[in-house]
Amino acid sequence: MTDVSAETEVAERIHAVGIDGTATVFPCAGNDTLLRAGLRAGLEMPYECNSGGCGACAIDVVAGEIDDIWPTAPGLSERQRARGKRLACQCRPRGDCVIKVRLRNEAPPVERPLRHTVTLVGRETLTHDMAEFHFKAAVPARFLPGQYALLDLPGVIGSRAYSMSNLPNDDGIWSFVVKRVPNGNGTAALFDRLAEGSQITLDGPFGMAFLRPDSPRDIVCIAGGSGLSPVLSILRAAAREPKLAGRRLTLYYGGRTPADLCHDKALARDTATAGRIHAVGAISDPEVAEWTGERGFIHEVVKRAVEAGGDPKVFDYYFCGPPMMADAVQRLLMLDWRVPPNQIYYDRFL
Ligand SMILES: Cc1cc2nc3c(=O)[nH]c(=O)nc-3n(C[C@H](O)[C@H](O)[C@H](O)COP(=O)(O)OP(=O)(O)OC[C@H]3O[C@@H](n4cnc5c(N)ncnc54)[C@H](O)[C@@H]3O)c2cc1C
Ligand code: FES
Repeated sequence: MTDVSAETEVAERIHAVGIDGTATVFPCAGNDTLLRAGLRAGLEMPYECNSGGCGACAIDVVAGEIDDIWPTAPGLSERQRARGKRLACQCRPRGDCVIKVRLRNEAPPVERPLRHTVTLVGRETLTHDMAEFHFKAAVPARFLPGQYALLDLPGVIGSRAYSMSNLPNDDGIWSFVVKRVPNGNGTAALFDRLAEGSQITLDGPFGMAFLRPDSPRDIVCIAGGSGLSPVLSILRAAAREPKLAGRRLTLYYGGRTPADLCHDKALARDTATAGRIHAVGAISDPEVAEWTGERGFIHEVVKRAVEAGGDPKVFDYYFCGPPMMADAVQRLLMLDWRVPPNQIYYDRFL
């Protein structure tokens, strides 16, 4: 039998985490991760996925003991582990400790992450395997368009990252476009087990791929599959932003077949995006005969369209989607076109 009082005691114990070589110390609860606690304290901790997959949050534990909640997480190689590296997004402190980490040299987003109990209040089907889920918290939903949250789902080990598809709001609504993953634990819980009225824990916001409305450039968004979620939020915000009134907002959205594409439906539901966004849908399955739109992988479609229009370096780019798609777009922007890094914002859905 689980000893609930012992678990609660561990969760509530607050430990001091020092950053080696500095005077910085931040508090971390026994059930929090070093990464999330550092971000809650306003530190520029390095990270991307918050899910154990990318390795961007690697640290050394210089003193003290930690629990590694996913010791085989793919973000570190066996060699790196043997050399003592750990993932801050997968480490919980057992007591006070000291870590070695190189903080990022940029200001963190203004909204610090917070844990909320949220209730599933609605779900809308978008395609045969995608739906938009709506959760409600007791306090306003504060995040930047393009950011993500971590959801703790019933019966699922580890949190899952999902990007908000809506806009920050006072009603406490957090919406996510989610694609069902075959044999996926988190998506099975969301699609099959979570009934309306169920409560879960949501932690957020996280992520650096948020809309920069002060940039003077036109915006190109590129998404595949559920990568539509953050891009919808970015486009919804951009379409409402007075500073971007004269800017061209383009979305390139890719799927395997026409049945996978739901961008027109999603954009048409919002009066601000309807008619304001230049949207290009593309399919990659060459066997599909009934299709008059663009064909090919989405990075190929973007390459053709943007090069035909002139200089690719004149845009800001936001892209999200599965790793293969995100890698191909990243290569196109960074290696082929040499777009400056401060014009490229992305999340890879590991
Ligand atoms: C920044 C970010 C934003 C994302 N946004 C979206 C979105 O808006 N919509 C969407 O559909 N998908 C999104 N994803 C993908 C999503 O987080 C899930 O990976 C996907 O839904 C598959 O989850 P699953 O549980 O069904 O599959 P599974 O195969 O069961 O799990 C996949 C993921 O869960 C995590 N995981 C697995 N095992 C463990 C463990 N033991 N401990 C801790 N973690 C574990 C890993 O990150 C792994 O990649 C995003 C991912 C990232 C990184
Ligand atoms: S942020 Fe920890 S592995 Fe990606």
